[in-house]
Amino acid sequence: MCDMHSIDLNTALTRFTDHWSPRIVAELNGQHVKIAKFAGAFDWHSHGDADEMFLVLQGSFTMEFRDHSVKLSEGQMLVVPRGVEHRPVADAECSVMLVEPAGLLNTGDSTETERSTSGQWLIEPLERAE
Ligand code: NI
Repeated sequence: MCDMHSIDLNTALTRFTDHWSPRIVAELNGQHVKIAKFAGAFDWHSHGDADEMFLVLQGSFTMEFRDHSVKLSEGQMLVVPRGVEHRPVADAECSVMLVEPAGLLNTGDSTETERSTSGQWLIEPLERAE
């Protein structure tokens, strides 16, 4: 999917309500751009072969590491380096953009759980559905 049209993220965020279930909105250079809603605490995990980018679109959350935490607010981003254990925690629902290699599991190298997913394509095309 490499259509040359805009993707309205605010519209895309209205298309789903579940938490910790990323939706893929674009693909480039073997990376998926995903959007997700976070609420509560996710599972501790790491990705041995992939760095992972998080950009807050709405609200805020805290990325916990084993030795410190980083609070991220709207418009702020963070890259979690490969191999580093992390756990996102959101006191209130927030919306986040992720950029990571296509196929990457959100629960990383841990045992798979019912929350494990590499994301699903959002129903498209978003901009033509208006
Ligand atoms: Ni991760």
